Parts: sequence; structure tokens; C-alpha cells
Amino acid sequence: MKRLLFATSEARPLIKTGGLADVSGALPAALRGLGVDCRLLLPGYPAVLEGLAGAGEVARLDLPGHPAARLLLGAMPGSGVPVYVLDAPDYYVRPGGPYQDTHGIDHADNAARFGLLSRVAALLCEVGSPLDWRPDILHCNDWQTGLAPAWLHYAGRPVPTVMTIHNLAFQGVFPPAWVNRLGLPPDSFGIDGLEYYDSLSFLKAGLYYADHLSTVSPTYAEEIQREPLGMGMQGLLAARAATLTGILNGIDDTDWNPAADPHLPCAYTATDLAGKGHCKAALQADLNLAAAPDTPLFGVVSRLTHQKGLDWIIQVAPGIVDRGGQLAILGTGDKAVEAAVRGLVARYPGRVAATIGYDEGLSHRIEAGADIFLMPSRFEPCGLNQMYSLRYGTVPVVHATGGLRDTVDDGVTGFVFDVTSAHGLWLAIERALAAYADRTTWQRIMRAGMARDFSWERSAREYLGLYERTLAG
Ligand code: ADP
Ligand code: GLC
Repeated sequence: MKRLLFATSEARPLIKTGGLADVSGALPAALRGLGVDCRLLLPGYPAVLEGLAGAGEVARLDLPGHPAARLLLGAMPGSGVPVYVLDAPDYYVRPGGPYQDTHGIDHADNAARFGLLSRVAALLCEVGSPLDWRPDILHCNDWQTGLAPAWLHYAGRPVPTVMTIHNLAFQGVFPPAWVNRLGLPPDSFGIDGLEYYDSLSFLKAGLYYADHLSTVSPTYAEEIQREPLGMGMQGLLAARAATLTGILNGIDDTDWNPAADPHLPCAYTATDLAGKGHCKAALQADLNLAAAPDTPLFGVVSRLTHQKGLDWIIQVAPGIVDRGGQLAILGTGDKAVEAAVRGLVARYPGRVAATIGYDEGLSHRIEAGADIFLMPSRFEPCGLNQMYSLRYGTVPVVHATGGLRDTVDDGVTGFVFDVTSAHGLWLAIERALAAYADRTTWQRIMRAGMARDFSWERSAREYLGLYERTLAG
């Protein structure tokens, strides 16, 4: 196992909408640390072209059904991981984010945009690749790269593929006319192929054609083989159980290190927690929360969506305030949720603070300054913030699902609830508040979480084992 192409639609620090970018930024670097020549393939969005200003052209592409494109080769800022940039300005250079326009509406041509990304990921593995460098294995991530295993199947499977599910809720479903428009063979459009309830699903293609499947926690790997979290794919996933592996994500412990975090006003460690108190005071001042060192401060950093259980947080917020607590929320997402969060701030000034938007520095300051981190996701393939929280001594309260269940130990490093409701969350919050009231108990829980190892190296070794098994057939 020498060469690996890691195809993804976002990667930190160039472009990020969620955890996939954290994984794509960190895992390839960790794999390189283990001796794998891992390279990224990433669309040339404006932020990517700007961030890799020195990238030079290595190939020109003219694929049927798509505008002419180029491949540039650059190096990831920070890690130096080689990045092939798919430069197709008609597709990727436009206002908005990677998937949506400035109004939060999906780009109308996403099937073409990510159809090209998938096609190029496959092409770079084929004998006809325009590059000298050809990988031994292709690693695809989420629906945006899901058609690549289908293309490789029709190219005679020159290299094996691993397809990782980061979130089964996003399936890349498009009208069937795209099969023809993307140049896929008509016979691929069947139940044994890329058809999904009479539509084309990029994700289904990946799940059907990839040699091996993985997802980002062992519990989610089990959950998606059944209703409701299989989200329509449970039959296929259960049938492929023998080739489905759950590997927990790691966290970037250089970026997320309370002892040396440039975003924080004060550093701290498990043995010297004083700095965490200063971070809390600074956060309270910053967010116009009442200065109160002993008040339990609850933090939330999240996409503001149904998945993340934000409605439950909104329901328990009055209870938190009644019990003397404070709540700091950072996030962006559904407009209705954003409005409800703003409503809480108006109702509880000095008690509830919210920042609607995306702010990396503030996300670090909330992780450091809060006492308790709320993450009651209805489902959570892995989740990163609960691991950041553990590392920062900010005790997580989480729903027993997916990676949350696999990373938080109830009563030892955090509080885990099974009952899927706002009331279930509230009961866990009450347990957390009782523990918080006893300084010795609380510090023991904080320190137990801070001592956990979520380094990428451990995950990267598991991926390496998976690649080797996939190559061995
Ligand atoms: P998901 O990918 O489902 O959103 P994860 O927990 O895997 O969930 O990853 C979310 C990532 O995005 C984390 O790194 C988190 O800190 C970050 N994040 C989410 N919302 C914001 C925000 N509003 N501002 C800054 N960072 C955010
Ligand atoms: C998705 C999931 C999240 C996971 C991330 C990275 O966005 O929602 O749970 O941590 O992918 O794998």
C-alpha cells in the first residue's frame, strides 16, 4: 500500500462546511505520517484557488458532457499534503458555498459539478489517467464522490475503492435523466446499480459499487443497517455488513489543544485548570453574559438543524436559566431555528447569548470557556465537538447515538441519555448540574475526559488496515 487518492468535496483549512473538512484536512496528513503517499482531490472553489495560489497545471481535461477543466497540483497549507485541484471555473467559481448559493438553495447543477468530481477521481485511477502518479487505492467520501466507484466498475476495476459515509442523510439524489447526461451506461440504472426509488443517487452508487464501505463510528455502522437511521439504504447496508467498517474520527490535537490555542485568552492543562476559569470570564464578558464564575455555563457549537437536536436545546433553555445557568450558542442553519435562538436571547438577556454565523475563533473560546457542552443530536455519525469538549475539560451532555455513544462515557467523562426527547436531555442536564455542584466530582470528570486519546494516528492506523484488507480482496 503506497499511493492513495483521497477524493473529497471539502478540506480544512481551505474550505469547510462541517466535519468532513476536518477529516479531509487531518486524515491524509496522518496517513502520510505512516508512510502512505496520500494525495487529495478537491474542487477548485474560489477559496481553494486562493489558498493554493502557487498551484501549477499538471493536466488538461476534456470529458464528455462537461466544460474543459484543468488539474492543478498544490500543497495543503500547514500539512503540505499534495492536493490535486479540479479547476473548472464554470462549475466551482461562483458566489455561495460548495453546495448552496448565497440564499442557502442547492446549486441547480450539483449533479454535473459533483458528477465531474467523481468522474475525475475515477479517471486518475485508470490506465488512461493524464497523470504519471496513479494510486493503488481510491478513497471516496460522501455522495459528492459516490459515482467514482461506478465509473471504476465500468473501467474494469483497475484499483479498489473505499467509500466512507460521513452522513447518510445526504444522498445526492437527482432525476434519472442525469444518468445519460453524465454518460453513465444505461444498464447501470437499476436496483443493482445506481438507481434509488426511480432516481439517480450518487451515494447509492458508491455504496453499491465500492469494494469496501466505512463510516465514522462503530455504533453508526450498526445503526445504519436498520430503520430509521439507514434512511432508505438499510437493506443494501445490511447486505454489505461484511464489508462495512466503523472507524472513529480523530481530532487535530495541534489545532485543538488548550495548552497552546492561539484563539484563547489563556492557556490551561489538566493539571493546571486555572486558565480555564479565565477563559470562562473572558467569554462571559465577550458575549455580554453576567460575570459569574460559579454559574454553570453551557456551550453549543453546531449546525442549527433538526439532526443536531437544536429544538430540544431550545426547549430546555428556560430550565437551564431557572437553575441559574447560562447558555452560549454559536451556529448557523435553519432559519426557523435561528429565529428561535434569537428569541431566547431576547427573553433572557445576560443569561443566553447567541452568535448566528460561522466563527472558528469563537468556537474555540466556547469550547474552552463553557463548563458543559450540549450535543443532543438525534443521530450523529461521529461528531467532533464532543471530542473537542473532552479535550478542553468541558463536560459533554450527549444523546446515546453514533459516535457520541462511542466517545463519551456516561458518568465518567460526560453524561449520556437514551430517551430520545427534550425530557431525556433535561434529565441528563440535571445529573450534570448535580455533579457540577461538587467541585471534586466535577474536576474528576473533567480530567478523565482530558486524558482520553482521540489522536488521528490511531484512526489512521485503522484506515491503513482497512486499505490493506481491501487491496488483499
Ligand atoms: P457536522 O459535520 O455534522 O456538522 P461535526 O461535529 O462532525 O458535525 O463537525 C462540525 C465541525 O464544524 C466542527 O469542527 C465544529 O467546530 C464546526 N462548526 C460547526 N458550526 C460552527 C460555527 N457556527 N462556527 C465555527 N465552527 C463551527
Ligand atoms: C458528518 C457527520 C458528523 C461527522 C462528520 C465527519 O458531517 O454529521 O457526525 O463527524 O461528518 O466524519
